[in-house]
Amino acid sequence: TTEENRPIIIIGSGYGGAVAALRLCEAGKKVCMLEMGLNWAKSGISFSKMQKPGKSAAWLKKQSIAPFFNLFSLEPFTGALDRLDFKDIKIWVGRGVGGGSLVNGGMAVLPKRDYFEEIFPNLDSKLFFDKYFPKAQQELKVNVAREEFLNDCKFYKFNKVGEAEARKAGFKTIRVPNVYDFDYMEKEYRNEVPRSALDGEVIYGNNHGKNSLDKTYLKKAVATGNLEILDLHSVQNIKNENEGYCLEVHLIDTSGQIVAKKLMNCQQLILAAGTMGTLELLLKSHAENGLQLNEEVGKHWGNNGNFMTGRNWVKAFSGGLGFQHSTIPVGGIDNWDDPKHTFFAELAPLPMGMNVATALYLMINKVDQPGSVSFDASTKKLVLDWSRKNTSKMEVNAKFFLRKMNKVNGGTRSHMLFHNGLGYDVCYHPLGGVVLGKATTEFGQLKNHKNLFVLDGSLIPASIGVNPFLTITALVEYCMENLLKEKAFG
Ligand code: FDA
Repeated sequence: TTEENRPIIIIGSGYGGAVAALRLCEAGKKVCMLEMGLNWAKSGISFSKMQKPGKSAAWLKKQSIAPFFNLFSLEPFTGALDRLDFKDIKIWVGRGVGGGSLVNGGMAVLPKRDYFEEIFPNLDSKLFFDKYFPKAQQELKVNVAREEFLNDCKFYKFNKVGEAEARKAGFKTIRVPNVYDFDYMEKEYRNEVPRSALDGEVIYGNNHGKNSLDKTYLKKAVATGNLEILDLHSVQNIKNENEGYCLEVHLIDTSGQIVAKKLMNCQQLILAAGTMGTLELLLKSHAENGLQLNEEVGKHWGNNGNFMTGRNWVKAFSGGLGFQHSTIPVGGIDNWDDPKHTFFAELAPLPMGMNVATALYLMINKVDQPGSVSFDASTKKLVLDWSRKNTSKMEVNAKFFLRKMNKVNGGTRSHMLFHNGLGYDVCYHPLGGVVLGKATTEFGQLKNHKNLFVLDGSLIPASIGVNPFLTITALVEYCMENLLKEKAFG
Protein backbone atom coordinates (compact mmCIF):
# COMPACT_ATOMS: atom_id res chain seq x y z
CA THR A 1 0.00 0.00 0.00
CA THR A 2 1.36 3.40 -0.99
CA GLU A 3 0.33 6.71 0.51
CA GLU A 4 -0.35 9.95 -1.36
CA ASN A 5 -1.50 13.45 -0.40
CA ARG A 6 -3.71 15.92 -2.23
CA PRO A 7 -5.28 19.20 -1.06
CA ILE A 8 -8.74 18.56 -2.55
CA ILE A 9 -10.18 15.25 -3.73
CA ILE A 10 -13.46 14.79 -5.59
CA ILE A 11 -14.93 11.26 -5.66
CA GLY A 12 -16.93 10.72 -8.86
CA SER A 13 -16.94 12.43 -12.25
CA GLY A 14 -20.67 12.77 -12.98
CA TYR A 15 -22.61 16.05 -13.00
CA GLY A 16 -21.89 17.05 -9.40
CA GLY A 17 -18.21 16.19 -9.59
CA ALA A 18 -17.69 17.87 -12.96
CA VAL A 19 -19.30 21.17 -11.93
CA ALA A 20 -17.37 21.23 -8.65
CA ALA A 21 -14.11 20.48 -10.48
CA LEU A 22 -14.55 23.27 -13.02
CA ARG A 23 -15.42 25.94 -10.48
CA LEU A 24 -12.55 24.96 -8.15
CA CYS A 25 -10.02 24.77 -10.99
CA GLU A 26 -11.12 28.17 -12.31
CA ALA A 27 -10.56 29.56 -8.82
CA GLY A 28 -6.97 28.30 -9.03
CA LYS A 29 -7.34 25.25 -6.79
CA LYS A 30 -5.52 22.00 -7.56
CA VAL A 31 -8.06 19.20 -7.70
CA CYS A 32 -7.70 15.42 -7.88
CA MET A 33 -10.73 13.49 -9.15
CA LEU A 34 -11.08 9.78 -8.44
CA GLU A 35 -13.34 7.77 -10.74
CA MET A 36 -13.86 4.00 -10.45
CA GLY A 37 -14.80 3.68 -14.12
CA LEU A 38 -12.70 4.02 -17.23
CA ASN A 39 -11.61 7.21 -18.95
CA TRP A 40 -13.30 6.15 -22.19
CA ALA A 41 -12.20 9.15 -24.24
CA LYS A 42 -8.57 8.50 -23.35
CA SER A 43 -8.72 4.71 -23.66
CA GLY A 44 -9.57 4.73 -27.36
CA ILE A 45 -12.05 1.89 -26.78
CA SER A 46 -15.32 2.53 -28.56
CA PHE A 47 -18.80 2.22 -27.08
CA SER A 48 -20.99 -0.63 -28.19
CA LYS A 49 -24.34 -0.46 -29.93
CA MET A 50 -27.55 -1.64 -28.34
CA GLN A 51 -27.96 -4.49 -30.81
CA LYS A 52 -24.41 -5.67 -30.20
CA PRO A 53 -23.38 -5.29 -26.53
CA GLY A 54 -19.60 -5.41 -26.06
CA LYS A 55 -17.00 -3.97 -23.69
CA SER A 56 -18.93 -0.87 -22.63
CA ALA A 57 -22.24 -2.70 -22.10
CA ALA A 58 -21.91 -3.65 -18.46
CA TRP A 59 -19.84 -3.09 -15.35
CA LEU A 60 -18.10 -6.43 -14.73
CA LYS A 61 -21.03 -8.68 -15.66
CA LYS A 62 -21.29 -11.91 -17.63
CA GLN A 63 -24.56 -10.93 -19.24
CA SER A 64 -25.98 -7.69 -20.62
CA ILE A 65 -28.07 -5.59 -18.21
CA ALA A 66 -30.43 -3.53 -20.38
CA PRO A 67 -33.98 -3.09 -19.01
CA PHE A 68 -35.11 -5.99 -21.26
CA PHE A 69 -33.96 -8.55 -23.86
CA ASN A 70 -30.70 -9.51 -22.13
CA LEU A 71 -29.83 -12.43 -24.33
CA PHE A 72 -26.18 -11.48 -24.72
CA SER A 73 -23.30 -13.00 -22.78
CA LEU A 74 -20.31 -10.82 -22.06
CA GLU A 75 -16.66 -11.00 -21.06
CA PRO A 76 -16.50 -9.09 -17.73
CA PHE A 77 -15.11 -5.60 -18.37
CA THR A 78 -15.30 -2.25 -16.59
CA GLY A 79 -18.22 -1.18 -18.80
CA ALA A 80 -20.05 2.13 -18.79
CA LEU A 81 -23.41 0.87 -17.53
CA ASP A 82 -24.05 -0.72 -14.15
CA ARG A 83 -27.18 -2.06 -12.51
CA LEU A 84 -27.68 -2.32 -8.78
CA ASP A 85 -30.26 -4.95 -7.91
CA PHE A 86 -32.46 -4.66 -4.84
CA LYS A 87 -35.59 -6.67 -4.04
CA ASP A 88 -38.24 -4.39 -5.54
CA ILE A 89 -36.11 -2.04 -7.57
CA LYS A 90 -33.24 -2.16 -10.05
CA ILE A 91 -31.14 0.98 -10.32
CA TRP A 92 -29.07 1.75 -13.45
CA VAL A 93 -26.04 4.05 -13.17
CA GLY A 94 -23.19 5.21 -15.39
CA ARG A 95 -19.54 4.28 -14.75
CA GLY A 96 -16.57 6.06 -16.26
CA VAL A 97 -15.21 9.58 -16.61
CA GLY A 98 -18.43 11.52 -17.15
CA GLY A 99 -20.61 9.33 -14.90
CA GLY A 100 -24.27 9.13 -15.95
CA SER A 101 -23.69 11.51 -18.87
CA LEU A 102 -22.01 8.64 -20.77
CA VAL A 103 -25.05 6.39 -20.78
CA ASN A 104 -28.09 8.61 -20.35
CA GLY A 105 -30.59 9.80 -22.95
CA GLY A 106 -29.36 13.39 -22.70
CA MET A 107 -32.79 14.84 -21.88
CA ALA A 108 -32.18 18.21 -20.25
CA VAL A 109 -35.49 19.15 -18.71
CA LEU A 110 -36.38 22.16 -16.58
CA PRO A 111 -38.45 21.14 -13.57
CA LYS A 112 -41.86 22.73 -13.11
CA ARG A 113 -41.31 25.89 -11.10
CA ASP A 114 -44.12 25.13 -8.64
CA TYR A 115 -42.76 21.68 -7.99
CA PHE A 116 -39.20 22.97 -7.60
CA GLU A 117 -40.56 25.34 -4.93
CA GLU A 118 -42.40 22.48 -3.24
CA ILE A 119 -39.28 20.29 -3.17
CA PHE A 120 -36.91 23.12 -2.18
CA PRO A 121 -39.01 25.57 -0.13
CA ASN A 122 -35.88 27.32 1.16
CA LEU A 123 -34.31 28.07 -2.20
CA ASP A 124 -34.89 31.29 -4.13
CA SER A 125 -36.63 29.84 -7.21
CA LYS A 126 -36.38 33.11 -9.15
CA LEU A 127 -32.62 33.04 -8.79
CA PHE A 128 -32.55 29.45 -10.02
CA PHE A 129 -34.78 30.03 -13.04
CA ASP A 130 -33.06 33.32 -13.95
CA LYS A 131 -29.50 32.31 -13.30
CA TYR A 132 -28.48 28.75 -12.38
CA PHE A 133 -30.71 26.82 -14.80
CA PRO A 134 -29.71 29.00 -17.79
CA LYS A 135 -26.05 28.66 -16.75
CA ALA A 136 -26.40 24.86 -16.59
CA GLN A 137 -28.16 24.79 -19.99
CA GLN A 138 -25.39 26.81 -21.56
CA GLU A 139 -22.49 24.80 -20.09
CA LEU A 140 -24.16 21.47 -20.93
CA LYS A 141 -24.84 22.65 -24.52
CA VAL A 142 -28.57 22.03 -24.41
CA ASN A 143 -30.35 22.34 -27.76
CA VAL A 144 -33.69 21.52 -29.35
CA ALA A 145 -34.37 19.58 -32.56
CA ARG A 146 -35.92 21.40 -35.52
CA GLU A 147 -39.59 20.47 -36.02
CA GLU A 148 -39.09 20.07 -39.80
CA PHE A 149 -36.33 17.55 -39.16
CA LEU A 150 -38.41 15.58 -36.66
CA ASN A 151 -41.28 15.56 -39.10
CA ASP A 152 -39.21 14.31 -42.04
CA CYS A 153 -36.81 11.96 -40.29
CA LYS A 154 -37.94 8.33 -40.49
CA PHE A 155 -35.99 7.58 -37.29
CA TYR A 156 -38.49 9.74 -35.39
CA LYS A 157 -41.62 8.06 -36.64
CA PHE A 158 -41.98 6.48 -33.19
CA ASN A 159 -42.15 9.98 -31.72
CA LYS A 160 -44.53 11.35 -34.33
CA VAL A 161 -46.93 8.43 -33.87
CA GLY A 162 -46.50 8.63 -30.09
CA GLU A 163 -47.38 12.31 -29.96
CA ALA A 164 -50.36 11.92 -32.28
CA GLU A 165 -51.71 9.04 -30.19
CA ALA A 166 -51.22 10.95 -26.95
CA ARG A 167 -53.04 14.01 -28.27
CA LYS A 168 -55.86 11.87 -29.58
CA ALA A 169 -56.21 10.43 -26.08
CA GLY A 170 -56.48 13.96 -24.69
CA PHE A 171 -52.96 14.41 -23.34
CA LYS A 172 -50.70 17.41 -23.80
CA THR A 173 -47.37 16.74 -25.55
CA ILE A 174 -44.16 18.71 -25.22
CA ARG A 175 -40.83 18.99 -27.02
CA VAL A 176 -37.89 17.98 -24.84
CA PRO A 177 -34.46 19.65 -25.10
CA ASN A 178 -31.33 17.48 -25.14
CA VAL A 179 -27.53 17.67 -24.98
CA TYR A 180 -27.20 15.55 -28.11
CA ASP A 181 -26.11 17.90 -30.91
CA PHE A 182 -29.07 17.94 -33.30
CA ASP A 183 -27.00 19.61 -36.04
CA TYR A 184 -24.76 16.57 -35.88
CA MET A 185 -27.80 14.30 -36.01
CA GLU A 186 -29.06 16.03 -39.14
CA LYS A 187 -25.66 15.39 -40.73
CA GLU A 188 -25.94 11.73 -39.65
CA TYR A 189 -29.26 11.55 -41.39
CA ARG A 190 -27.70 12.93 -44.57
CA ASN A 191 -24.85 10.39 -44.23
CA GLU A 192 -22.21 13.12 -43.97
CA VAL A 193 -20.74 11.94 -40.65
CA PRO A 194 -20.54 8.66 -38.71
CA ARG A 195 -23.87 7.70 -37.18
CA SER A 196 -24.43 7.37 -33.46
CA ALA A 197 -27.99 8.20 -32.30
CA LEU A 198 -29.20 6.96 -35.67
CA ASP A 199 -27.20 3.77 -35.27
CA GLY A 200 -28.40 2.35 -31.97
CA GLU A 201 -25.91 4.00 -29.63
CA VAL A 202 -26.98 5.32 -26.23
CA ILE A 203 -27.11 3.32 -22.98
CA TYR A 204 -23.72 1.72 -23.64
CA GLY A 205 -22.32 5.13 -24.64
CA ASN A 206 -22.37 7.32 -27.75
CA ASN A 207 -19.28 7.45 -29.96
CA HIS A 208 -20.42 10.72 -31.56
CA GLY A 209 -22.92 13.52 -31.23
CA LYS A 210 -23.63 13.55 -27.52
CA ASN A 211 -22.20 16.36 -25.42
CA SER A 212 -21.39 14.22 -22.41
CA LEU A 213 -19.49 15.82 -19.51
CA ASP A 214 -16.06 14.89 -20.92
CA LYS A 215 -16.90 17.28 -23.78
CA THR A 216 -18.26 20.12 -21.60
CA TYR A 217 -17.51 20.74 -17.91
CA LEU A 218 -14.64 18.25 -17.59
CA LYS A 219 -12.97 19.41 -20.80
CA LYS A 220 -12.96 23.00 -19.54
CA ALA A 221 -11.70 21.93 -16.12
CA VAL A 222 -8.83 19.91 -17.64
CA ALA A 223 -7.91 22.91 -19.82
CA THR A 224 -7.16 24.98 -16.71
CA GLY A 225 -4.23 22.67 -15.96
CA ASN A 226 -5.49 22.25 -12.40
CA LEU A 227 -7.43 19.00 -12.71
CA GLU A 228 -5.92 15.54 -12.35
CA ILE A 229 -8.34 12.73 -13.23
CA LEU A 230 -7.44 9.24 -11.99
CA ASP A 231 -9.67 6.60 -13.55
CA LEU A 232 -10.08 2.98 -12.42
CA HIS A 233 -9.66 4.29 -8.86
CA SER A 234 -12.37 2.83 -6.69
CA VAL A 235 -12.74 4.41 -3.24
CA GLN A 236 -13.51 1.77 -0.61
CA ASN A 237 -14.05 3.90 2.45
CA ILE A 238 -13.39 7.21 4.17
CA LYS A 239 -11.71 7.87 7.49
CA ASN A 240 -11.83 11.20 9.27
CA GLU A 241 -8.33 12.10 10.49
CA ASN A 242 -7.77 15.37 12.33
CA GLU A 243 -9.40 17.98 10.11
CA GLY A 244 -8.94 15.98 6.90
CA TYR A 245 -9.81 12.63 5.35
CA CYS A 246 -7.98 9.44 4.45
CA LEU A 247 -9.38 7.33 1.62
CA GLU A 248 -8.69 3.67 1.04
CA VAL A 249 -8.51 3.31 -2.74
CA HIS A 250 -8.31 0.25 -4.99
CA LEU A 251 -6.69 0.70 -8.35
CA ILE A 252 -8.29 -1.87 -10.67
CA ASP A 253 -7.67 -3.13 -14.19
CA THR A 254 -10.37 -3.44 -16.86
CA SER A 255 -11.26 -6.96 -15.73
CA GLY A 256 -11.95 -5.64 -12.24
CA GLN A 257 -8.83 -7.15 -10.63
CA ILE A 258 -7.15 -5.07 -7.92
CA VAL A 259 -3.68 -4.12 -9.16
CA ALA A 260 -2.67 -1.76 -6.33
CA LYS A 261 -3.95 -0.32 -3.07
CA LYS A 262 -3.45 3.27 -2.03
CA LEU A 263 -4.18 5.47 0.92
CA MET A 264 -5.02 8.95 -0.32
CA ASN A 265 -5.10 11.81 2.18
CA CYS A 266 -6.79 15.11 1.54
CA GLN A 267 -7.63 18.24 3.47
CA GLN A 268 -10.97 18.61 1.77
CA LEU A 269 -13.24 16.02 0.27
CA ILE A 270 -16.12 16.36 -2.17
CA LEU A 271 -18.39 13.36 -2.44
CA ALA A 272 -19.99 13.26 -5.89
CA ALA A 273 -20.25 9.50 -6.37
CA GLY A 274 -23.93 9.74 -7.38
CA THR A 275 -26.84 9.10 -5.02
CA MET A 276 -26.07 5.40 -4.51
CA GLY A 277 -22.27 5.74 -4.50
CA THR A 278 -22.28 8.62 -2.04
CA LEU A 279 -24.73 6.89 0.30
CA GLU A 280 -22.71 3.68 0.21
CA LEU A 281 -19.45 5.46 1.03
CA LEU A 282 -20.96 7.51 3.86
CA LEU A 283 -22.94 4.71 5.50
CA LYS A 284 -20.19 2.12 5.10
CA SER A 285 -17.54 4.48 6.49
CA HIS A 286 -19.83 5.22 9.42
CA ALA A 287 -20.25 1.48 10.13
CA GLU A 288 -16.61 0.51 9.58
CA ASN A 289 -14.59 3.61 10.50
CA GLY A 290 -16.91 5.48 12.83
CA LEU A 291 -17.30 8.38 10.37
CA GLN A 292 -19.66 10.73 12.15
CA LEU A 293 -23.02 11.16 10.42
CA ASN A 294 -26.12 13.13 11.31
CA GLU A 295 -29.48 11.36 11.53
CA GLU A 296 -30.73 12.81 8.22
CA VAL A 297 -28.26 10.78 6.15
CA GLY A 298 -30.15 7.98 4.38
CA LYS A 299 -33.55 9.66 4.64
CA HIS A 300 -35.81 11.12 1.90
CA TRP A 301 -34.65 8.68 -0.76
CA GLY A 302 -36.72 8.07 -3.89
CA ASN A 303 -36.78 6.81 -7.49
CA ASN A 304 -37.91 10.17 -8.92
CA GLY A 305 -41.22 8.47 -9.57
CA ASN A 306 -39.70 6.34 -12.34
CA PHE A 307 -42.17 3.81 -13.69
CA MET A 308 -41.72 2.19 -17.07
CA THR A 309 -44.56 0.86 -19.11
CA GLY A 310 -45.32 -0.05 -22.68
CA ARG A 311 -47.96 -0.93 -25.25
CA ASN A 312 -48.00 -3.70 -27.84
CA TRP A 313 -49.84 -3.79 -31.15
CA VAL A 314 -49.34 -0.07 -31.69
CA LYS A 315 -50.55 0.63 -35.24
CA ALA A 316 -49.52 -2.92 -36.03
CA PHE A 317 -51.42 -2.98 -39.31
CA SER A 318 -50.62 0.54 -40.44
CA GLY A 319 -46.85 0.81 -40.29
CA GLY A 320 -46.27 0.63 -36.53
CA LEU A 321 -43.60 2.88 -35.10
CA GLY A 322 -41.03 2.48 -37.83
CA PHE A 323 -38.17 0.06 -38.29
CA GLN A 324 -35.42 2.30 -37.02
CA HIS A 325 -35.57 4.56 -33.99
CA SER A 326 -33.21 7.36 -33.06
CA THR A 327 -31.94 6.57 -29.57
CA ILE A 328 -32.42 10.17 -28.43
CA PRO A 329 -35.88 10.99 -27.04
CA VAL A 330 -37.42 14.31 -28.07
CA GLY A 331 -41.03 14.09 -26.93
CA GLY A 332 -42.96 13.83 -23.73
CA ILE A 333 -46.48 13.74 -22.36
CA ASP A 334 -47.13 16.41 -19.75
CA ASN A 335 -49.98 15.46 -17.45
CA TRP A 336 -48.54 17.35 -14.48
CA ASP A 337 -51.51 19.68 -14.10
CA ASP A 338 -53.96 16.83 -13.51
CA PRO A 339 -54.16 16.66 -9.71
CA LYS A 340 -55.55 13.12 -9.77
CA HIS A 341 -53.03 11.60 -12.15
CA THR A 342 -49.94 13.78 -11.97
CA PHE A 343 -47.15 12.55 -14.23
CA PHE A 344 -44.76 13.26 -17.03
CA ALA A 345 -44.00 10.52 -19.57
CA GLU A 346 -41.08 10.30 -21.95
CA LEU A 347 -41.80 8.82 -25.37
CA ALA A 348 -38.87 6.43 -25.31
CA PRO A 349 -37.32 4.83 -28.37
CA LEU A 350 -36.98 1.08 -28.73
CA PRO A 351 -34.05 0.87 -31.14
CA MET A 352 -34.17 -2.82 -31.94
CA GLY A 353 -33.68 -2.55 -35.67
CA MET A 354 -37.11 -3.98 -36.41
CA ASN A 355 -40.68 -2.85 -36.28
CA VAL A 356 -42.04 -4.43 -33.12
CA ALA A 357 -45.11 -2.16 -32.99
CA THR A 358 -44.35 -1.57 -29.33
CA ALA A 359 -44.29 1.78 -27.55
CA LEU A 360 -42.13 2.33 -24.49
CA TYR A 361 -42.73 5.04 -21.89
CA LEU A 362 -40.67 6.20 -18.94
CA MET A 363 -43.11 7.83 -16.57
CA ILE A 364 -41.98 10.29 -13.92
CA ASN A 365 -44.40 10.69 -11.01
CA LYS A 366 -44.40 12.37 -7.64
CA VAL A 367 -42.95 10.25 -4.83
CA ASP A 368 -45.70 10.33 -2.23
CA GLN A 369 -43.94 7.79 0.00
CA PRO A 370 -40.17 8.33 0.12
CA GLY A 371 -37.95 5.45 1.20
CA SER A 372 -34.71 5.31 3.14
CA VAL A 373 -31.28 3.75 2.85
CA SER A 374 -29.10 2.02 5.45
CA PHE A 375 -26.02 -0.20 5.51
CA ASP A 376 -25.92 -3.81 6.67
CA ALA A 377 -22.50 -4.31 8.29
CA SER A 378 -22.73 -8.11 8.13
CA THR A 379 -23.39 -8.36 4.38
CA LYS A 380 -21.49 -5.10 3.69
CA LYS A 381 -24.33 -4.00 1.42
CA LEU A 382 -26.69 -1.07 1.16
CA VAL A 383 -30.25 -1.85 2.23
CA LEU A 384 -33.15 0.03 0.67
CA ASP A 385 -36.35 0.46 2.58
CA TRP A 386 -38.41 0.51 -0.60
CA SER A 387 -41.08 -1.90 -1.80
CA ARG A 388 -44.04 -2.07 -4.16
CA LYS A 389 -46.10 -0.04 -1.75
CA ASN A 390 -43.84 2.94 -2.50
CA THR A 391 -44.82 2.73 -6.17
CA SER A 392 -48.53 1.97 -5.74
CA LYS A 393 -49.71 5.48 -6.73
CA MET A 394 -47.36 5.41 -9.72
CA GLU A 395 -48.96 2.12 -10.77
CA VAL A 396 -52.41 3.71 -10.61
CA ASN A 397 -51.13 6.46 -12.93
CA ALA A 398 -49.60 3.94 -15.33
CA LYS A 399 -52.82 1.94 -15.57
CA PHE A 400 -54.82 5.13 -16.11
CA PHE A 401 -52.43 6.21 -18.86
CA LEU A 402 -52.46 2.83 -20.62
CA ARG A 403 -56.23 2.54 -20.42
CA LYS A 404 -56.72 5.96 -21.95
CA MET A 405 -54.17 5.40 -24.71
CA ASN A 406 -55.46 1.93 -25.64
CA LYS A 407 -59.09 2.90 -25.61
CA VAL A 408 -58.65 5.59 -28.24
CA ASN A 409 -55.73 4.19 -30.24
CA GLY A 410 -55.98 0.42 -29.87
CA GLY A 411 -53.11 -1.64 -28.52
CA THR A 412 -52.61 -3.66 -25.36
CA ARG A 413 -50.49 -3.45 -22.23
CA SER A 414 -47.02 -4.70 -23.16
CA HIS A 415 -46.49 -8.07 -21.53
CA MET A 416 -43.52 -8.47 -23.82
CA LEU A 417 -41.57 -5.69 -22.10
CA PHE A 418 -42.67 -6.05 -18.48
CA HIS A 419 -44.64 -8.47 -16.34
CA ASN A 420 -48.24 -7.24 -16.68
CA GLY A 421 -46.83 -4.31 -18.62
CA LEU A 422 -45.79 -2.63 -15.37
CA GLY A 423 -42.10 -1.77 -14.95
CA TYR A 424 -42.43 -0.60 -11.35
CA ASP A 425 -38.89 -1.72 -10.54
CA VAL A 426 -36.99 0.18 -13.27
CA CYS A 427 -35.11 3.17 -11.90
CA TYR A 428 -32.78 5.48 -13.84
CA HIS A 429 -33.04 8.42 -11.42
CA PRO A 430 -32.16 7.54 -7.80
CA LEU A 431 -32.31 10.73 -5.74
CA GLY A 432 -31.97 11.86 -2.14
CA GLY A 433 -30.50 10.52 1.06
CA VAL A 434 -28.23 13.49 1.76
CA VAL A 435 -30.75 16.27 1.34
CA LEU A 436 -29.65 19.89 0.89
CA GLY A 437 -30.32 21.89 4.02
CA LYS A 438 -31.17 18.76 6.04
CA ALA A 439 -28.18 16.37 6.07
CA THR A 440 -26.01 19.21 4.76
CA THR A 441 -25.82 22.96 5.27
CA GLU A 442 -27.64 25.16 2.77
CA PHE A 443 -24.66 24.82 0.38
CA GLY A 444 -23.88 21.09 0.61
CA GLN A 445 -21.38 20.90 3.46
CA LEU A 446 -22.12 17.73 5.44
CA LYS A 447 -23.27 18.78 8.89
CA ASN A 448 -20.56 18.53 11.60
CA HIS A 449 -17.87 18.19 8.91
CA LYS A 450 -16.07 21.40 8.03
CA ASN A 451 -14.19 19.80 5.14
CA LEU A 452 -16.59 17.28 3.64
CA PHE A 453 -19.08 18.31 0.95
CA VAL A 454 -21.78 16.29 -0.81
CA LEU A 455 -22.55 17.56 -4.31
CA ASP A 456 -24.66 15.22 -6.45
CA GLY A 457 -28.15 13.76 -6.92
CA SER A 458 -28.37 12.78 -3.26
CA LEU A 459 -29.10 16.45 -2.42
CA ILE A 460 -32.57 16.25 -4.05
CA PRO A 461 -35.22 14.77 -1.75
CA ALA A 462 -36.73 11.74 -3.56
CA SER A 463 -38.03 13.45 -6.72
CA ILE A 464 -37.91 16.53 -8.92
CA GLY A 465 -40.68 15.61 -11.38
CA VAL A 466 -38.56 15.55 -14.55
CA ASN A 467 -35.29 13.93 -15.66
CA PRO A 468 -32.85 15.22 -13.05
CA PHE A 469 -29.41 16.09 -14.43
CA LEU A 470 -30.20 19.71 -15.31
CA THR A 471 -31.37 20.27 -11.73
CA ILE A 472 -28.31 18.49 -10.27
CA THR A 473 -26.06 20.70 -12.40
CA ALA A 474 -27.86 23.92 -11.39
CA LEU A 475 -27.86 22.96 -7.69
CA VAL A 476 -24.13 22.27 -7.69
CA GLU A 477 -23.44 25.53 -9.57
CA TYR A 478 -25.36 27.31 -6.81
CA CYS A 479 -23.59 25.46 -3.98
CA MET A 480 -20.12 25.96 -5.49
CA GLU A 481 -20.62 29.67 -6.10
CA ASN A 482 -21.62 30.15 -2.48
CA LEU A 483 -18.98 27.83 -1.02
CA LEU A 484 -16.27 29.70 -2.94
CA LYS A 485 -17.73 33.03 -1.79
CA GLU A 486 -17.61 31.77 1.80
CA LYS A 487 -13.97 30.74 1.28
CA ALA A 488 -14.86 27.16 2.24
CA PHE A 489 -11.87 25.98 0.19
CA GLY A 490 -9.45 28.56 1.55
P1 FDA B 1 -23.35 10.24 -11.52
O1 FDA B 1 -23.98 8.93 -11.27
O2 FDA B 1 -23.52 10.87 -12.84
O3 FDA B 1 -21.77 10.12 -11.28
C1 FDA B 1 -21.20 9.44 -10.20
C2 FDA B 1 -19.84 8.88 -10.59
O4 FDA B 1 -19.17 8.44 -9.40
C3 FDA B 1 -19.91 7.68 -11.51
O5 FDA B 1 -19.08 7.89 -12.63
C4 FDA B 1 -19.40 6.51 -10.65
O6 FDA B 1 -18.69 5.53 -11.37
C5 FDA B 1 -18.49 7.23 -9.65
N1 FDA B 1 -18.34 6.50 -8.39
C6 FDA B 1 -19.34 5.98 -7.62
N2 FDA B 1 -18.83 5.39 -6.53
C7 FDA B 1 -17.48 5.54 -6.58
C8 FDA B 1 -16.41 5.12 -5.75
N3 FDA B 1 -16.63 4.44 -4.61
N4 FDA B 1 -15.14 5.42 -6.14
C9 FDA B 1 -14.89 6.11 -7.27
N5 FDA B 1 -15.88 6.52 -8.11
C10 FDA B 1 -17.15 6.25 -7.77
N6 FDA B 1 -31.13 12.09 -16.49
C11 FDA B 1 -31.58 13.15 -17.22
O7 FDA B 1 -31.67 14.26 -16.69
N7 FDA B 1 -31.93 12.97 -18.53
C12 FDA B 1 -31.88 11.75 -19.14
O8 FDA B 1 -32.18 11.62 -20.34
C13 FDA B 1 -31.42 10.63 -18.36
N8 FDA B 1 -31.40 9.36 -18.90
C14 FDA B 1 -30.83 8.33 -18.18
C15 FDA B 1 -30.66 7.08 -18.78
C16 FDA B 1 -30.01 6.06 -18.09
C17 FDA B 1 -29.84 4.71 -18.73
C18 FDA B 1 -29.49 6.30 -16.78
C19 FDA B 1 -28.75 5.23 -16.03
C20 FDA B 1 -29.66 7.53 -16.20
C21 FDA B 1 -30.33 8.56 -16.88
N9 FDA B 1 -30.47 9.82 -16.30
C22 FDA B 1 -31.00 10.86 -17.04
C23 FDA B 1 -30.05 10.08 -14.92
C24 FDA B 1 -28.74 10.88 -14.82
O9 FDA B 1 -27.75 10.31 -15.64
C25 FDA B 1 -28.31 10.91 -13.34
O10 FDA B 1 -29.33 11.52 -12.59
C26 FDA B 1 -27.02 11.69 -13.15
O11 FDA B 1 -25.96 11.11 -13.88
C27 FDA B 1 -26.64 11.75 -11.68
O12 FDA B 1 -25.55 12.63 -11.53
P2 FDA B 1 -24.61 12.58 -10.26
O13 FDA B 1 -23.67 13.72 -10.34
O14 FDA B 1 -25.47 12.47 -9.04
O15 FDA B 1 -23.81 11.19 -10.34
